[in-house]
Amino acid sequence: MCGIIGIVGNKSVADRLVDALEKLEYRGYDSAGIATVSQGELDRVRACGKLVNLKQKLKETSLSGHCGIGHTRWATHGVPSEVNAHPHSTQRVAIVHNGIIENHETLRQKLMAKHHHFESLTDSEVIAHLLDDYLQQGDSPEDAVRKARKELVGAFAIACIFHGHDDLMIVAREGASPLAVGLGQEENYVGSDALALSPFTDQLFYLEEGDMAILSSGSVELWDSEDKKITRSTFQSQVSVEAISKEGFTSFMEKEIHHQPQVVEATLASRLDDNGQIKPSGVDWNAIDRVTFAACGTAFYAGMVAKYWFEKIARLPFEIDIASEFRYRMPPLSANGLCVIVSQSGETADTLAALEYAKSQDQTILSIVNVPESSIERVSDITLQTLAGPEIGVASTKAFTTQLAMLATLAIEAALARQVITSSQALTYIEELRQVPSLMHLAMGKDHVIRTLSKKLATMSDTLFLGRDINYPMALEGALKLKEISYIHAEAYAAGEMKHGPIALLEDGYPVIVIAPKDSIVEKTASNVQEALARGAWVIAFTDAPHIFSGCDYIEMPESTLLQSPFVSAVLIQFLAYHTAQEKGTDVDQPRNLAKSVTVE
Ligand code: F6R
Repeated sequence: MCGIIGIVGNKSVADRLVDALEKLEYRGYDSAGIATVSQGELDRVRACGKLVNLKQKLKETSLSGHCGIGHTRWATHGVPSEVNAHPHSTQRVAIVHNGIIENHETLRQKLMAKHHHFESLTDSEVIAHLLDDYLQQGDSPEDAVRKARKELVGAFAIACIFHGHDDLMIVAREGASPLAVGLGQEENYVGSDALALSPFTDQLFYLEEGDMAILSSGSVELWDSEDKKITRSTFQSQVSVEAISKEGFTSFMEKEIHHQPQVVEATLASRLDDNGQIKPSGVDWNAIDRVTFAACGTAFYAGMVAKYWFEKIARLPFEIDIASEFRYRMPPLSANGLCVIVSQSGETADTLAALEYAKSQDQTILSIVNVPESSIERVSDITLQTLAGPEIGVASTKAFTTQLAMLATLAIEAALARQVITSSQALTYIEELRQVPSLMHLAMGKDHVIRTLSKKLATMSDTLFLGRDINYPMALEGALKLKEISYIHAEAYAAGEMKHGPIALLEDGYPVIVIAPKDSIVEKTASNVQEALARGAWVIAFTDAPHIFSGCDYIEMPESTLLQSPFVSAVLIQFLAYHTAQEKGTDVDQPRNLAKSVTVE
């Protein structure tokens, strides 16, 4: 979640650390800081709030030095504040940390008994004091890190610089906290992801579980979890810094909503061969009797949509669970089954743990990830990469619809392989998918109508989203989008469930948003809407059958099929959340308390 950057080289690092932190701000943005070592002296500047505050402080206090570390924080232990911001330091060492130290309290007590004075409430500060303790006892920085890491329980990625060492940085990784080492010319780097390193170098390797590396301007030395000196092969990162621009849009989220037709088209194209047939994914669909799916948040809702596609089109049972539940539920899985894992970042700790559990049960792992070279990709048997490009807005938009595109092609592939559909039916489905980008464009034409409705929605404090069948997960996704960026409380129910409880909420003017494209059960949804209207609710219907939603405000959707409608409704719910948040003046790209890459449990 937190972002880490480190540079050890032959020219000043402070400004470049801050530039790199800008690319990592999506990982957390409640405080930020940098530390450098210059002529043996450690120095640091930290600020609460977004990076702009740190930049302001650095105008008053500049930091010199050719070796430094930086951090952007997503608070776990201790409120967002300057004292809780990283780097944490003592006289002898400064560190940045991503992850959670589970035994921090025990270590803190032990170190306090030895007269270490703590200033913050973070778990991370114990790392600095633990290192300091070993350094005080005369250990070298290298030995201090080696010994300290053995005492730390939890998941962590750390980067440390040391008093008296202008050309030394030590980094280590344990658990689900990625750390990439970048190799440059007379300069070396460390970063939470390839994006942060992209302005400096494209030659990278990732630290594996338990690795420790010692960096200087001229060398990188590496040890594995058994303390064996090793080398890891580097690869050329394809991540490009150019993709990180708003391109004239007011926010990344707005840009990312508008880019969906093109990235969905690119993702679909990546799955089709020259004859327009779906390329084999590598799964033997006849060898399995069910699919197991795990993911978090919006990626989970993509799986929930896919459940309807797999079960209706391929007649293949598709069991879904939230990754944080799946990992501890320990479900029995049939031998040699298929587990589908979806993640934009490819780093989500719970999703990675769900994957590991499925692997331990001899499942083949097919992952769908957006960020290339991610941890999930590295441990999967088969990976399909969505071509959404970097998604910077914290709320998932284009990653979601490209995940849907991948999952739709897999459902068609499975159906054909299992002979549930004929080749000509498969081609009809593929043709429906080819029309999706134009349908999304049509949905975008409803932007102005949605904007008008959003003015009123922005004055509300609670909302209820409804949908049946494949529109139920879309209702869940609509509620998630609205709450995360506008902070309006939103709940979602299967429309048929409303009368079993949530109807009690309804009163005059209560906003109900219903996703109801014309399908075989749209009339059932319309009846539920009548029940809501009868209790005075203000109903907004997303539908292509407005005549059966009389009494509602409606957004007319273009006509769409079972495969197409989730893409269309995705655009509409995203605009609804986006404009409502704009109306309220919240920060859509960096909503409060959230972070883009969730590497803690
Ligand atoms: C919501 C959102 C989150 C993510 C979730 C999983 O808009 O973005 O719910 O979908 O944190 O993240 P990934 O896909 O990176 O595993």
